[in-house]
Amino acid sequence: MRFKKSVQDILNKQVNAEFWSAYLYLSMSAYLAGKGLNGLANWMRVQYQEEVSHAMKIFDYVIARGGEMKLEPIERVETEWAGVKEIFESTYEHECKVTDMIHNCYEVALKERDHATANMLQWFIDEQAEEEESALEILDKLKLVGDNGAAMYMLDQELGARTFVDATQAE
Ligand code: FEO
Repeated sequence: MRFKKSVQDILNKQVNAEFWSAYLYLSMSAYLAGKGLNGLANWMRVQYQEEVSHAMKIFDYVIARGGEMKLEPIERVETEWAGVKEIFESTYEHECKVTDMIHNCYEVALKERDHATANMLQWFIDEQAEEEESALEILDKLKLVGDNGAAMYMLDQELGARTFVDATQAE
C-alpha cells in the first residue's frame, strides 16, 4: 500500500521531536555535570542516546517504506534549571507530552488504515510507559533524598552505572 502523506508528515515531525528530546537531555546532562553530579549527568547522557535511537528508528522506517525524510531545524532547549528536582520534573512532564505525540501518530496511522506504521508505533507506546516510569522513579528518589548530601552522593553513584543499550535493535 502507498505510504500516505499524512502518515509521512507526522512521522517526520516525530523524528524532529525525538531529536529535540535528545538535545534537551544533553543540555540537562551538561547542566548536571556542571554541578559536579557526574552520575546524574551520565544518566541524562544515556537518555540522550536513547532519544537519538528513537529518532533513527522512525527515520529508518520512513525510508524503508519509500517515504521522504526531511530534517527540519531543532528548536533551542533550556540550559538552566532551578535545581535537580526541577530537571526530573521537566523530564517527566516532557515524556508525558511525547506519549501524547506518539498516541497521536498511532491514531493517524489507524485512521489511514496503515497497520504497518501502527505496528511500528506499538513499540513506542510500550517504550513511553517505561520512559514515564523511570523519570517518576528518580523523582521519587530525589524527594526522599531532599537536602541530604550523603544520600545524593549515593543516588549519583547509582545513576552513574546506567549504560546505553539500544533497545530499538532488540527485536
Ligand atoms: Fe523518545 Fe523519551 O521519548
